Amino acid sequence: MRKIDVFDTTLRDGEQSAGINLNTAEKLEIARQLEKLGTDVIEAGFPASSQGDFEAVRKIAQTVQSSIVTGLARAVKSDIDTSWEALKYGAEPHLHIFLATSPIHMTHKLKKTPDQVVEIAVESVKHAKKHFPLVQWSAEDAFRSDPDFLVRIVEKVIQAGATTINLPDTVGYATPAEYGAMFNYLKNNVKSIDKVKLSAHCHNDLGMAVANSIAAIENGADQVEATINGIGERAGNAALEELAVALHIRKDVYNFETAIQFQEIKRTSQLVSQLTGMAIQANKAVVGKNAFAHESGIHQDGMLKDRSTYEIITPELIGETSNQLVLGKHSGRHAFKNKAVELGFDLTDEKINEAFKAFKTLADKKKQISEDDLYIILTDQQIQEDD
Ligand code: KIV
Ligand code: ZN
Repeated sequence: MRKIDVFDTTLRDGEQSAGINLNTAEKLEIARQLEKLGTDVIEAGFPASSQGDFEAVRKIAQTVQSSIVTGLARAVKSDIDTSWEALKYGAEPHLHIFLATSPIHMTHKLKKTPDQVVEIAVESVKHAKKHFPLVQWSAEDAFRSDPDFLVRIVEKVIQAGATTINLPDTVGYATPAEYGAMFNYLKNNVKSIDKVKLSAHCHNDLGMAVANSIAAIENGADQVEATINGIGERAGNAALEELAVALHIRKDVYNFETAIQFQEIKRTSQLVSQLTGMAIQANKAVVGKNAFAHESGIHQDGMLKDRSTYEIITPELIGETSNQLVLGKHSGRHAFKNKAVELGFDLTDEKINEAFKAFKTLADKKKQISEDDLYIILTDQQIQEDD
């Protein structure tokens, strides 16, 4: 099995979600949990962006021991020097420099020629290497860049000392086949590519961030960048928990492994949601409230006979206590009777049938039936049975 490194950017790209603002204590709490989760790299923030982020990154670099701590910097000396002051405490100081390489970004945003961009990239990496043993260089908007220009600039930054090359799909535009092909092209055309770690960074604008990240791994990426609950700019980043669980559950096809401690997933997801104030959509894969909930009678009956009928991931894997058979209008008698026993009722079949009828009538009027509703219905039958 090939080991894939997980680079968590919840505290940097994730925090770039509209409406999120974490203070140092909150960032530190999340970083500690990400360390427990087993992430290889934690991007703690963007030290040159604000004094608050500088302090948070410094505190995290001083505290976290078993994950590498990094921070983001533009390809300018002042950002790199500021980042060093925040990150120098780490056991293996790591810096993440980015510079746009697509014609759209070079022309409209940077207002630089491709030659000037190559020069800036090389100078910034050389400068970073004066301090940092580990330097990741990201070609922002790599997916919309000219592949031969990417080959040229990547070769140069590797020669300048970069240790990881990241090829982001910054605007979430790629399809899995295209994103995979870009990795394949660089693998085959950059002479020094085997000297560095190759990284994938996907945004979710078209809902393909996780699929694109897996396509990159299949085409040679050694690292995937992701956020907890998929938070991030616009529609977010690849969701770390989905990626790790997908690789694990489908190891029969992928043959890749990560160091993620699955039983920490639920706790991490809840913590990030609570501290960022970003709710998790109920039907979100792996960590959504309904990810292990079964409502229809046919599904509930199957689950009660054998969980493998409708469950491909066990809730226990991610540290969730149990699955849920939610009682609603689609539920069947089997799940209803089970719930009655669980609630301590021992009714005859006739009374269960009566209670089930009453439950169905109520379920037609209410979206979800609470335990209190069930108590009332079942107690009613219990009283009649006792009379
Ligand atoms: O999406 C992106 O291109 C980024 C870079 C800064 C790596 O987040
Ligand atoms: Zn990004």
